[in-house]
Amino acid sequence: MTQSVETPVVPGLLERLLADTRLDAAASARPRHPVPAELRRAPQDGPLTELPPPAAPRAALDDVLLERTAVRDYAQTPLSAADLSAVLSAADRMDAGGWPAERAAGVDLELYCASWRVTGVDTGLYRYLPGRSALCRVASLPDGPQAEELVIQREFARAAALVVITGNLAAALARNGSHGHRLLLTRAGAAGHAAWLAALRHDLVGTVFAGLLPHVLRERAAADGYHRAALFAFAVGRPPART
Ligand SMILES: Cc1cc2nc3c(=O)[nH]c(=O)nc-3n(C[C@H](O)[C@H](O)[C@H](O)COP(=O)(O)O)c2cc1C
Repeated sequence: MTQSVETPVVPGLLERLLADTRLDAAASARPRHPVPAELRRAPQDGPLTELPPPAAPRAALDDVLLERTAVRDYAQTPLSAADLSAVLSAADRMDAGGWPAERAAGVDLELYCASWRVTGVDTGLYRYLPGRSALCRVASLPDGPQAEELVIQREFARAAALVVITGNLAAALARNGSHGHRLLLTRAGAAGHAAWLAALRHDLVGTVFAGLLPHVLRERAAADGYHRAALFAFAVGRPPART
């Protein structure tokens, strides 16, 4: 028997969810609290790889937007470091432009890059340093079939690179209450989609995704899920050859 659309699956659930959302919105208007120093993350040290300035886009957004679709297989051809620089910089600029007060208060997003096929960047896991246009190496990564153990969907291990967006959930909650979690997810979504749109303008393909394996980032990037929580990701590569 099909259920009438008017019949709620759990009586009162929708009302409760709406009430929570209203509370959340009200909380977002309250004064922010300072982020205690102990919740701020110490920067990670590691060897630096300089990135070139972002490559200029090769297409206007209007010309590529209608063809935007999730692509999960990629050519073997590497990305240029300048294209990767453009993708990472677009993600960071989105956040810097949208949420300057959060960043100034110490609730920043961190962008990580798993690089497998980027010219001039060795295979490895890096943290993007937007102010220096550089990558700070934080861990090694396997490549080939072993890389598939790093991700839930093996196709993402065949991307040229992954951009992994993390945020400081502890700091976001200290500053904004429970609204801080929603805010972090919104920011990560905006950054991930900015990376995707930038990629399209550089003749690249990919998809955003959230299916990350927590233990991989915990072991390799000290992402404990609280002070550094993986939020969202973007897989990028060159388009596969058409058959
Ligand atoms: C929050 C979020 C999480 C996602 N997680 C995954 C994922 O884990 N794996 C995946 O293949 N795609 C994931 N996607 C990508 C969506 O499947 C993709 O954007 C959707 O298929 C739309 O693609 P289309 O516009 O080409 O139809 C996610 C998208 C969003 C917004």
